[in-house]
Amino acid sequence: MGKRFTPAPWPRRLRSQEWYGGTSRDAIYHRGWMKNQGWPHDLFDGRPVIGILNTWSDLTPCNGHLRELAEKVKAGIWEAGGFPVEVPVFSASENTFRPTAMMFRNLAALAIEETIRGQPMDGAVLLVGCDKTTPSLLMAAASTDIPSIIVTGGPMLNGYFRGERVGSGTHLWKFSEAVKAGEMTQEEFLEAEASMSRSSGTCNTMGTASTMASMAEALGMALSGNAAIPAVDSRRRVIAQLSGRRIVQMVKDDLKPSDILTKLAFENAIRTNGAIGGSTNAVVHLLALAGRVGVDLTLDDWDRCGRDVKTIVNLMPSGQYLMEEFFYAGGLPVVIKRLGEAGQLHKDALTVSGATIWDEVKDVVNWNEDVILPADRPLTDQGGIAVLRGNLAPKGAVLKPSAASPHLLVHRGRAVVFEDIDDYKRKIEDEALDIDETCVMVLKNCGPKGYPGMAEVGNMGLPPKVLKKGITDMVRISDARMSGTAYGTVVLHTSPEAAAGGPLAVVRDGDMIELDVPNRRLHLEISDAELAARLAAWQPLPDRPASGYAWLHQAHVMGADTGADLDFLRGCRGNPVGKDSH
Ligand code: FES
Repeated sequence: MGKRFTPAPWPRRLRSQEWYGGTSRDAIYHRGWMKNQGWPHDLFDGRPVIGILNTWSDLTPCNGHLRELAEKVKAGIWEAGGFPVEVPVFSASENTFRPTAMMFRNLAALAIEETIRGQPMDGAVLLVGCDKTTPSLLMAAASTDIPSIIVTGGPMLNGYFRGERVGSGTHLWKFSEAVKAGEMTQEEFLEAEASMSRSSGTCNTMGTASTMASMAEALGMALSGNAAIPAVDSRRRVIAQLSGRRIVQMVKDDLKPSDILTKLAFENAIRTNGAIGGSTNAVVHLLALAGRVGVDLTLDDWDRCGRDVKTIVNLMPSGQYLMEEFFYAGGLPVVIKRLGEAGQLHKDALTVSGATIWDEVKDVVNWNEDVILPADRPLTDQGGIAVLRGNLAPKGAVLKPSAASPHLLVHRGRAVVFEDIDDYKRKIEDEALDIDETCVMVLKNCGPKGYPGMAEVGNMGLPPKVLKKGITDMVRISDARMSGTAYGTVVLHTSPEAAAGGPLAVVRDGDMIELDVPNRRLHLEISDAELAARLAAWQPLPDRPASGYAWLHQAHVMGADTGADLDFLRGCRGNPVGKDSH
């Protein structure tokens, strides 16, 4: 049974009144400065003050349209009697951040948590889109636990190149492999570039941005239907306005993230991820989010809940279509309804609307059975994330079966080891590299501590000499992540990571490795004594960052198996108003 929610009595004094209420010198100070923006006095009368936390940035192109969307959110807040304040927040862009945006997810969450707690906000609209922006704001909202609602920017329209759909990221990997294999010219690749991003919005595949938008909706943190509406569709602006209206009532009712983000909600999200063929990145983000609200979620929950879920959303990278078609087919509510019909949904989980998730979806219709497939012809029967264990991954590793090659799901091969990403780049195009398609590519030191930040390099490209034979997949193992737009038989998040002294660190060229996905096994074929001796002789990498955020990150980041959060940020610290500075 889901937790019963009882709305708080209204009217009552809100936290923003600790700044704006009364006639004290401090209240006059706080109101007086705000009035330099032309706000009338009655706006400070105790109505809900709603922070629109906006991850717009010119350097986060996927969120480049969020200032326009913020205007619609504001309109909704005004209509419902709230007072909107737009606040720019840390925007962890996937496109540009080095060494990887993932290193900054936790920094963004920390900065945004304090942005909420330290300022007069009673509720928050989380305006997000690009991959890390969604989890970082969800984590901040969870740790402060003020009423919050997600509005995503929506996906880009379909790309087309020479008459064929072009999926964000997915075709970048495909085209670059085709160039290496001599099947596409560099000029054609450049021509294709222009077709990849033809409107505002996030990646149009079921990559990490679309996955996390879907996770937010399945968790109950967004209005139903939010995830798939294209960025430029007028209905995207409608849902932004409706979300603005809704957050005001959520504040009055005191409907908080901790009321919504229950274990049942996480299990709904995990199953939804299996049904949509979502990104492996959702694993680390949901584990980290659960850690913020004190929900005991583990890697094993991913395997347990997702194992029998059929992937029914026929979207790249696992399938054929893109988010635009998913929206026209009915979007995520159709998928959630299907889970409910299959007995794979906690129907009474609460959502930001105040209704249960089942009430939100029970009457929707699937308008295109090529895009959202019927139950008797799914894309794959096992759509979840496989969690592998063995002496190579004592704390687990993950693989996305729907993106893998069926013939490689059980495989034994000789390891070809790359000590880090630079070693990989140096060797991979060398014709003398002793490798063929039966080998297992092993990449080390790309985990949360190692890279640092756990970059999306786990789907390392194949050697050109293999590609030229027409081979497009090999078993690859690393402690890295993989872009949600990528595909292949790729074992990721191997834990403990190499830089923390995990067994991955001591794999050597020529070792034999066994992958057995049906039995969830990842095994390095050396004796226990040999493994222990190698681990005893292992030395940490030199050149640790000496200062700055990189130091903080490396000193405190936890393993991928628990979500790679910073250890001191787990848990909910609430929203006490603290001392005034004046
Ligand atoms: Fe920003 Fe894909 S890179 S959404």
